[in-house]
This record gives sequence, C-alpha cells and structure tokens, in this order.
Amino acid sequence: MLLPVIVALNVSNVLVYSATAGYRHDSIPTAISELTRRGPDYGINFINTEDMTLFNDRYLSQFDAVFFLSNTDEVLNSSGKAAFQKYLDRGGNVVGVHAATNCMLRRSCFYSSGSQFQGHPAFTNATMVVLDMIHPSTAGLPPRWNVTDEIYNFVTDPRDLGAVVVLSADESSYRDPSRGQSAQGDPHPIAWYQERHTGTNSTGLVGRSWYTGLGHAAAAWKDDVFMSHILGGLAYVLASNTTRAMNPDATVGSLGPKYTPV
Ligand SMILES: *[C@@H]1O[C@H](CO)[C@@H](O)[C@H](O)[C@H]1NC(C)=O
Ligand SMILES: *[C@@H]1O[C@H](CO)[C@@H](O)[C@H](O)[C@H]1NC(C)=O
Ligand SMILES: *[C@@H]1O[C@H](CO)[C@@H](O)[C@H](O)[C@H]1NC(C)=O
Ligand SMILES: *[C@@H]1O[C@H](CO)[C@@H](O)[C@H](O)[C@H]1NC(C)=O
Ligand SMILES: *[C@@H]1O[C@H](CO)[C@@H](O)[C@H](O)[C@H]1NC(C)=O
Repeated sequence: MLLPVIVALNVSNVLVYSATAGYRHDSIPTAISELTRRGPDYGINFINTEDMTLFNDRYLSQFDAVFFLSNTDEVLNSSGKAAFQKYLDRGGNVVGVHAATNCMLRRSCFYSSGSQFQGHPAFTNATMVVLDMIHPSTAGLPPRWNVTDEIYNFVTDPRDLGAVVVLSADESSYRDPSRGQSAQGDPHPIAWYQERHTGTNSTGLVGRSWYTGLGHAAAAWKDDVFMSHILGGLAYVLASNTTRAMNPDATVGSLGPKYTPV
C-alpha cells in the first residue's frame, strides 16, 4: 500500500471539528482516535474540539487545515462562521467528511464543500470507481474499490462549482430506490477537490478543499485503504502553499514543530 507522504516544513496542525447539532455518528470517536494515532507518521498534529467558541480568528489562525468530521445541522453560529470565512480568506484549507455536507449549508451559509447532502439508501456494499489515479486521495485505492458505507446523493453537481471529482459510485453495484431526483451529475460524485475553495469571496489568496461522502461506519476508520483516502485528501490540501505547513510567509498555520495551539 502506497501511502501519501506529506513533506511539510513544519508539523501541520489540523483542527478536527466534530460538533453535531442533529444526528450523531457512532464512528466519530473511532475517527478521532485513528487520526490521532496515525498523525505523527504524517507530520500532522490533530487537535479535536466540539467547542464552537474556538471558531475565532486567533484560534483558527494556528491551523493549516480545518477538518469537518460528520457534523450535522447548525454547528457554528454567525460569529463562528465569520471567523471561519476569514480563515478561508487568509489561505486556510478545509477537509469535509461524510455528513460535513449535511451541516450549516441548509440554512444560509457562505460555506460549501461543493454540494449538499440530499439523502442515501440503506448502509450497503457498493463499488466505488476511481476517476483520478494520481490524486493523493485516490492513488492508494484499487481502480474499483468495494466499500460498505452509506452512499450519498447530493443536491447539486460539485463540478458546477469547479470541483474535480476523483471518486464516483458505480450505481449498478447497489440498490437505491431514492436516487431519481438528484441533480448531482454523472458519474455519481463521491469525493472531490477544489484548488480554490468555494465559500470565500476573496479574489486573492484562497486555500484548498477536499471532501468525501464516505466514512459512515467505525470499521471504515480502522481500514488502511480508507485511511489512505482520508490522509491523501489531507495531504492534498496541506500542500496548498497558502499556510505555514509549506510556506513560511503564510499568515495561518502551525508556528513550528514544538508549537501547540492555544
Ligand atoms: C456565538 O457563540 C459564541 C460562544 O457561545 C458567543 O461568544 C458569541 O457571542 C455567539 N455569537 C452570536 C452572534 O450569537
Ligand atoms: C456485505 O457483503 C458481505 C459479504 O457478502 C455480507 O456479509 C454483508 O452483510 C454485506 N453488508 C451489507 C451492509 O449489505
Ligand atoms: C467487489 O464486489 C463485487 C460485487 O459484489 C464482486 O464481484 C468483486 O469480486 C468484489 N471485488 C473484490 C476485490 O472483493
Ligand atoms: C463576502 O461577501 C458577503 C456578501 O457580499 C459579505 O457580506 C461579506 O462580508 C464578505 N466577506 C468578506 C470576508 O469579504
Ligand atoms: C510557496 O510559496 C513560497 C513563498 O511565496 C515560494 O517561495 C515557493 O516557491 C512556493 N512553493 C510552491 C511549491 O509553490
């Protein structure tokens, strides 16, 4: 298994935000412990919080990426959203996983991971199709990847916002009686990246984003192939050169190998 290597100037700080205001996934603690356990191998210092008050300018500016982990409903108030937008406008990077498209967005927010969750059929075995064999988030996957997960449908096509879809679902590999209404486009988007993250109105510096719809069950987070997908997505955003992980002139990100966010 070829895992992505992150060659950073500094240890990267990644804030894992796992607050939920609606449905709460059982897999959240496993996801956090597996990320934290694997972080040192990738030069990543993962810090987990569910404290909305930490979405302020001073705190966020210490992170190279913010990782939205299966959040649901309104997990930030307007001050938190403003601080987050400022962070994006200063070059901050974003990763979203699974229900991260099912939070905030439904009630007027500038923030978008590229689309919004529409619904999903029952937890199922399904085959994913890699569309980009080179992107760090899919380079470690087999070309046709069998998963057991919730296969999301999305309200809109993330490609309409300029996202590049790297992983799609083979719709013939599972049953989905609810799919008919989706305008998500074809092939069915599951994971995608944006070189310039949407949701900021900065015309200058903008960080990167990456999103995957997978990650419902705890078992996924214990799987090395799934983790290569997640850590590869992180490797991609951290290489944006818009934060201190890679660029000493940046205004957000880790302040050095021994630095702990305060
Ligand atoms: C958002 O929540 C934080 C923490 O509770 C609070 O300090 C802040 O005043 C809130 N902002 C708004 C606009 O309600
Ligand atoms: C997936 O396939 C395995 C092997 O056939 C089966 O045991 C399992 O029940 C299936 N899982 C789901 C969620 O359908
Ligand atoms: C993936 O699932 C399909 C359909 O169940 C099956 O035919 C195929 O053998 C599986 N591939 C692997 C590598 O397990
Ligand atoms: C982005 O645009 C919106 C709408 O015009 C505005 O309310 C907001 O203040 C802008 N944010 C920044 C950071 O410029
Ligand atoms: C990153 O930015 C720095 C400072 O602006 C620049 O010197 C460096 O060449 C950039 N690196 C890449 C890979 O773009």
